[in-house]
Amino acid sequence: MHPVVSSAEYRQRRDRLMAKLGQGTAIFASAPQAVMHNDVEYVFRQDSDFYYLTGFNEPEAIAVFAPHHEEHQFILFVQPKDPAKETWTGIRYGVEGVQSSFGSDIAYPIGELDEHLPKYLEKADKIHYHLGRDEALNQTILKHWQKQLAAYPRQGYGPQALVNSHPLVHPLRQVKSETELALLRRACDLSAIAHQRAMEFARPGHYEYQVQAELEIIFRREGGLGPAYPSIVAAGKNACILHYINNDCPLQDGDLLLIDAGCAYGYYNGDITRTFPINGKFSPEQRTLYEIVLTAQEAAIAKVQAGNPYHEYHDAAVSVIVDGLMDLGLLVGNKEEIIKEEKYKPFYMHRTGHWLGLDVHDAGNYKQDKETWTVLEPGQVLTVEPGIYIAPDIKPAEGQPEVPEQWRGIGIRIEDDVLVTAQGPDVLTSAVPKAIADLEH
Ligand code: GLY
Ligand code: MN
Ligand code: MN
Repeated sequence: MHPVVSSAEYRQRRDRLMAKLGQGTAIFASAPQAVMHNDVEYVFRQDSDFYYLTGFNEPEAIAVFAPHHEEHQFILFVQPKDPAKETWTGIRYGVEGVQSSFGSDIAYPIGELDEHLPKYLEKADKIHYHLGRDEALNQTILKHWQKQLAAYPRQGYGPQALVNSHPLVHPLRQVKSETELALLRRACDLSAIAHQRAMEFARPGHYEYQVQAELEIIFRREGGLGPAYPSIVAAGKNACILHYINNDCPLQDGDLLLIDAGCAYGYYNGDITRTFPINGKFSPEQRTLYEIVLTAQEAAIAKVQAGNPYHEYHDAAVSVIVDGLMDLGLLVGNKEEIIKEEKYKPFYMHRTGHWLGLDVHDAGNYKQDKETWTVLEPGQVLTVEPGIYIAPDIKPAEGQPEVPEQWRGIGIRIEDDVLVTAQGPDVLTSAVPKAIADLEH
């Protein structure tokens, strides 16, 4: 059965948000409808905060939360019904439909925002709104705030500050509910099935795009929305480009293949990377580097424990990678200094992971203030994805040796999705093999 977020859960999320709002009014906007070319649009993808709070999946919409308002606490502005347009672009809920189906206290046509927004702002102490990329909406919100400020001396009340809305909703999104976890598990399962298929399919002579097609057909065929992000299928030295998405090269005998791909399912995202030999056999150099990355990943996963500060699992991965590169003579000197001065960065330039959920790089702070890292707690989901990348033209850090030719052109990353539980790390993507013995044939 397809897990579904119930209307009761959406209501509970809004209640939590409103409990934090106090006397404030919060405004959340839908995502823009992106254009592919001329009059052809991309498939619409709702803004994740907006979707988390409403479940409503149309563009041109605004959600307002005003817990202090006497009559309406949850207000939606939406596209009105328009039978002529709906014939072309699909059914809209419209003003009446959205109110009954999504539980708002009232709904208005989006064209009436200027008329109705002021009554939800005038008694608020603050406006909670994220100044985003929609310049026109930013200007509209600022204009309304300005009007309220102008009226303040005579009224004696009105919003005195505009503050970021993210702290209201991102801590909620960071800890997943049972239903969210069911959706995430499905996204991870489909991602894992696709990776297993790609491993079977890959061989010398096939093209990267053919491997991509094998992955993505599974995402869609099994009911996913499609790729969670542009699939990375990178053979040989292409793996040293972190976001390589051209995927147009042939797979060469003797090279590794790095695949970073995940399925979006019910708006939740899987994010898996595997790296394996195209001909079924690691070269000595590939094997040596692979073992370091795998050991780093295992050490990092072991640190995904409730109560640990967020940075610990990254530090664990860096420690193993630096040890490994020092053993090979690719880094020289004092280990603590190499780490402190980030001299490993030409080989490992990204962090070891990120929150995962409705966004692939999901909402949630990594730090609580300048000094304090977020502490892991059950229900959070993150990726663990260390790597070593030795670009053909790698430039070592100052004072470090040149990298001998035999190591160049190898890029390796291993990425799993991990749920923090009270019992330790729960690896949601463990179905995809990563042990050397399971990758060779
Ligand atoms: N695929 C994007 C990432 O791993 O962060
Ligand atoms: Mn990834
Ligand atoms: Mn990732």
